[in-house]
Amino acid sequence: SETISKPPLTLLLASPRGFCAGVDRAIQIVELAIEKYGPPVYVRHEIVHNRYVVEELERKGAIFVEELDEVPSGAKVIFSAHGVPKAVPADAQSRELFYLDATCPLVSKVHVEAERLYSRGHEILLIGHAGHPEVIGTMGQLPEGSVRLIETAADAEAFQPQDPEKVAFVTQTTLSVDDTAAIVAILRRRFPAIAGPRKEDICYATTNRQEAVKAIAPLVDAMLVIGAPNSSNSMRLVEVAERAGCRYAALLQRATDIDWAALGSPAIVGLTAGASAPEVLVEEVIDAFRQRFEVTVEESPVRRESVQFKLPRALAG
Ligand code: F3S
Repeated sequence: SETISKPPLTLLLASPRGFCAGVDRAIQIVELAIEKYGPPVYVRHEIVHNRYVVEELERKGAIFVEELDEVPSGAKVIFSAHGVPKAVPADAQSRELFYLDATCPLVSKVHVEAERLYSRGHEILLIGHAGHPEVIGTMGQLPEGSVRLIETAADAEAFQPQDPEKVAFVTQTTLSVDDTAAIVAILRRRFPAIAGPRKEDICYATTNRQEAVKAIAPLVDAMLVIGAPNSSNSMRLVEVAERAGCRYAALLQRATDIDWAALGSPAIVGLTAGASAPEVLVEEVIDAFRQRFEVTVEESPVRRESVQFKLPRALAG
């Protein structure tokens, strides 16, 4: 016969990877709302930063918009997992829209904390990335201009407080654990009285996915991360792999994005997925490898996750 033998390759799957409890809940909220109220249901901003997820929900009857003024009056609208400024639900109310909030409970927790610290007279620093919807949402919990964004260690060094005794910080949930620790260390050195979380507000899912990449990075010839370029936690996984010494680390949205030429002829490839990337896309990538290689799949979890969040009352039960 003419069977061409394929070269052997081990795919090392990072674990945990993929969907977190906040993404899972947000998608369920859209699906259940469509079931309960019938299509269309509007969603403000990509419910989670993943094209595939968005397109699946569009097929089921979701309509994605960027701003509330694109939602017709009387319609139902859902706010994305990243959270929204206070002005958004207020605006929805004044326009008599029925809304459901799919903000991840771990983001809401940061919102509450920022408000609490502010009401005690602290000047609030937010460690995060400018322009990310979570940062816009968290800044929008407090009066305009009252939150200072700290993006880098240099920002932390340069910041001049009104009163060094009354400074507090909160963080975005999807940051680099290592970069954030460095920024927090600078703030604590400069302002020993600073109030804030014990470490930072980075969520369990972000932390665990970075740890899982670090665990396999020294073992692989290349690391592939399934996720979107606007997904903060996915981009951080690529960085973590690079810093852990991976000679090649790349972000993919789908299997068709794999750059086989750049990949070369690896023996072991690491594979992970950001918190908004569904497992079917991991399977799609594994299948693409199977077409070219004799694949062995291996996985050894660094952590078990059992976090689950309750649905909003309107949809529960
Ligand atoms: Fe929430 Fe973290 Fe996921 S903040 S949406 S559990 S990445």
